[in-house]
Amino acid sequence: MCIISRDTFFKIFGSGSFIGEGSGFMGSDLEPLISFSRVFRPKTIVEIGIQRGMTAKCLLENSPWIEKYIGIDVTPDHKTTLHIQQNEVPTIPGECVKDDSRVELIVRPHGSRELQPADLPKADLIFIDGDHSEEGVLFDTNLARQIIKKGGIICWHDYGNHLVPGVQTVIDQLNINEGDHICLIENGLLCFQFAI
Ligand SMILES: C[S@@+](CC[C@H](N)C(=O)[O-])C[C@H]1O[C@@H](n2cnc3c(N)ncnc32)[C@H](O)[C@@H]1O
Repeated sequence: MCIISRDTFFKIFGSGSFIGEGSGFMGSDLEPLISFSRVFRPKTIVEIGIQRGMTAKCLLENSPWIEKYIGIDVTPDHKTTLHIQQNEVPTIPGECVKDDSRVELIVRPHGSRELQPADLPKADLIFIDGDHSEEGVLFDTNLARQIIKKGGIICWHDYGNHLVPGVQTVIDQLNINEGDHICLIENGLLCFQFAI
């Protein structure tokens, strides 16, 4: 596993400071996403598992260059693959960003599992934070890899979170098979890969 220290990360990609509220789900992992946005100025972002939209709101408020933000989630009656994720299912997906004209919400009974690459635009930044089961992470990774633009970035949240070990299992396996292209930011749960 390639691990980059937070210090080195922010030296390379610049500050992740932001205005507005953060996201309870992300904690200090939000700052690297802000850094990526500030340095690469993504026009199109896809977030798989937008929940209420707290991370989306922060990214949108701090990134006037974003033109399109697609937020994907499930309907409130969805039974999550992992029981432990059931209480994360929002009553109103994307409610924090519903009035932002740049946002398009895709809410389906089975969320991203119902989507194919043709349902989504090519994206500059994709944030995978939905179904954290092994099948879910693998599915979302394959979906993301088919719509990421060359030079774009795919990020995964919750690597190393012992409550949802599937994220780490999948990423470790991908790294073994593919040669360590996915990198973890030290002292956090956020991983990233550049699409080349
Ligand atoms: C950890 S929360 C996401 C937090 C959010 N990304 C943020 O930073 O504020 C996980 C989300 O994934 C959603 N989810 C679960 N299974 C999903 C699926 N198959 N497709 C899309 N979203 C899913 C849940 O409903 C929940 O909103």
